[in-house]
Amino acid sequence: MSSNPAADLYLDLLAKVLTRYGFEGRNVTVSLPLGSYESYLWQLLTATMPGRQVRMVEPGTFDAKLREEGVDWPADAESMVGLKRLANIRECVERTLTDGVPGDLVETGVWRGGSCIFMRGVLAAHGDPDRRVWVCDSFEGLPEHDGRYAADIGDQFHAFSELAISVEEVQENFRRYDLLDDRVEFLKGWFADTLGTAPIEQIAVLRLDGDMYASTMDALEPLYDKVSPGGFVIVDDYGAVPACAQAVHDFRKDRGITDEIHQVDWTGAYWRKGVPA
Ligand SMILES: C[S@@+](CC[C@H](N)C(=O)[O-])C[C@H]1O[C@@H](n2cnc3c(N)ncnc32)[C@H](O)[C@@H]1O
Repeated sequence: MSSNPAADLYLDLLAKVLTRYGFEGRNVTVSLPLGSYESYLWQLLTATMPGRQVRMVEPGTFDAKLREEGVDWPADAESMVGLKRLANIRECVERTLTDGVPGDLVETGVWRGGSCIFMRGVLAAHGDPDRRVWVCDSFEGLPEHDGRYAADIGDQFHAFSELAISVEEVQENFRRYDLLDDRVEFLKGWFADTLGTAPIEQIAVLRLDGDMYASTMDALEPLYDKVSPGGFVIVDDYGAVPACAQAVHDFRKDRGITDEIHQVDWTGAYWRKGVPA
């Protein structure tokens, strides 16, 4: 991308605000060990308050390394992926712009919307005239294991009420950054129900962030063929969730995909879809 100091300043600042890098250390959301007594009590407590956005937060000091790598779970930031994975989104989007790779930008698994807000910001910073950003989520958290894939047995992500963020809240987050317009498309529902019939025509960057085997496979199967040659597939949970990595390996093996996988940080990874010979 040709050098544009104003765009650099805007995107650097946008990434820092979306992760609250440097100015939110306190109020880190508590992650209780799954299966622990505390976790059981917390689930009981939240079950008594249906429909209320109850969160548990605790004081903490800002840790640059954690927030760079997207390790902690920020209380108020719009993204939990950290600066390195946001930088990877920027690199992939900019590469498709300079190389003229056609297609939209898609994220499956958006939480508060931060990565998608950043995608829209990158397009805006470079004056892209027409690409869309697809914001795909249940907006109700993760599904329970439905018996299809053994790798998801025992999965507990569905128990995290903190992962259920309403579509209205995500839209409000886009608005907060002046980045909500008719080029941001919201696709609400379980991936297994929505992605196969979604009116997405062509994809330049596909970002998977649904944590589970099923959520990863349910996105790859309907969307991979829509990724343009030279486009990018980013997998947020490749290092963090073995079931997610398993889905990626199974899909690639089944489809004979040999494009090299590059590691972004301790969990994020991506590959660039090869141009057919
Ligand atoms: C780890 S969060 C995403 C983090 C986000 N990308 C960010 O920038 O911080 C995972 C999200 O995936 C969604 N999700 C996971 N599996 C899903 C499925 N099968 N269908 C719909 N949404 C799903 C959850 O609702 C949750 O919002």
